[in-house]
Amino acid sequence: MAAPNRSLVEDYSRYLKAFELFLERSSEHQCMRDFIHNTLPNILATVGVGKSTLNVMGVGSGAGEIDLEILTQLHAKHPEARVENDVVEPSGDMLYKYKVLVAKTLGLDHISFRFNKMTAIEFESDWKQRNTDRKLDFIHMIQMLYYVNDPEATVSFFRSLLHKNGKLLVILVSGDSGWGGLWRRYRDQVHSRCVTTADIKSFLDAKGIHYESHVFASSMDITECFTAEDEKGELMLDFLTEVLEFTKNAYPELNSGVLELLKQPECSREVDGRVMFNNNMDAPPAGQSGWGRLWRTYRAQLCMSDISQCVTSGDVRNFLDAKGIPYQSHTLPSQMDITECFTAGDEKGELLLDFLTEVLEFSKNASPELKAGVLELLKHPECSREVDGRIIFNNNLEALVLTP
Ligand SMILES: C[S@@+](CC[C@H](N)C(=O)[O-])C[C@H]1O[C@@H](n2cnc3c(N)ncnc32)[C@H](O)[C@@H]1O
Repeated sequence: MAAPNRSLVEDYSRYLKAFELFLERSSEHQCMRDFIHNTLPNILATVGVGKSTLNVMGVGSGAGEIDLEILTQLHAKHPEARVENDVVEPSGDMLYKYKVLVAKTLGLDHISFRFNKMTAIEFESDWKQRNTDRKLDFIHMIQMLYYVNDPEATVSFFRSLLHKNGKLLVILVSGDSGWGGLWRRYRDQVHSRCVTTADIKSFLDAKGIHYESHVFASSMDITECFTAEDEKGELMLDFLTEVLEFTKNAYPELNSGVLELLKQPECSREVDGRVMFNNNMDAPPAGQSGWGRLWRTYRAQLCMSDISQCVTSGDVRNFLDAKGIPYQSHTLPSQMDITECFTAGDEKGELLLDFLTEVLEFSKNASPELKAGVLELLKHPECSREVDGRIIFNNNLEALVLTP
């Protein structure tokens, strides 16, 4: 059955009210701040090294709170650099709030702001018309890809603007979030674009585009959705389904089906009598391990045996999603010390390399290029991190639980 007629974004002031309520009720911005303070600095340290001016762009920046946090971290890493910051945001209200925030925030003298009141696609055609060869050092699109018609084309265009050491940060809800659960079941009946990092990951993998992934946990208290005629509950239901006045406009089966699903473990859990919707995000995708990274790069060279099919939980999730099969997902953090792999002739190191690549006597039998490439990749932050001088491989697992 088709979606009830009107999309929430058609009534922009109601959308903004719903978004503000969502921010109030969820840990979204708090967990983003944790990510920006703890993880992003290492990413920002590698962009625009040695440049006197850094070019930054936020796409769908909203009121700019998160942008300013990012710019603060960038300044800490590159204190000498000036920053030219482009903002691409179609909402006049949001841009106004962004400008007010800039005006009252101290310490932004090194930044020039350029505000583009445009959608991503309008900005793209404007950019092409201007025929500029300007390149960007850092672009972020945080929780905005839901609003474009073709998220993959949008990612491709903005990625093409990057300087050779530039980075593009995409944050979306993860495939294993409550949003993913809701969209898998009601993709055709809600107005959301239903895009999660699982979709972006499939696209990047298919194109052989490298990426790093960071998962962060977030939740949203949706308890009032289950109280009839509660104003906030109704606003949250609009935000969750992107259907304008969902309670009034959805036909009864959709209304009761969505309410029931929102309470299921696939979407929420109960904490102290409150219903907490899983708003997990990732920058992309969930459950990405060092194995996934290794296999994406060397699938053709390494995945030749009967037992090593180079399948990650992401592949299984894509298949389940495509078939519309519901499942629950749990990330199990795990790691492996592979330091000895980097000591030539070390017996344990060689055994570990055989295990990682599933090539018998990898050190002896692999071509010099493959060996050097694998060793370099295994040290890369996408596979491992250094802890007290040891190389710790990301062995994260994801448990997918299927129901009949
Ligand atoms: C969910 S908000 C996220 C705001 C901000 N990035 C944050 O995380 O707080 C989505 C933003 O994308 C903007 N937006 C909507 N459609 C867009 C489009 N087609 N192109 C660019 N931005 C868009 C909205 O106006 C809104 O400010």
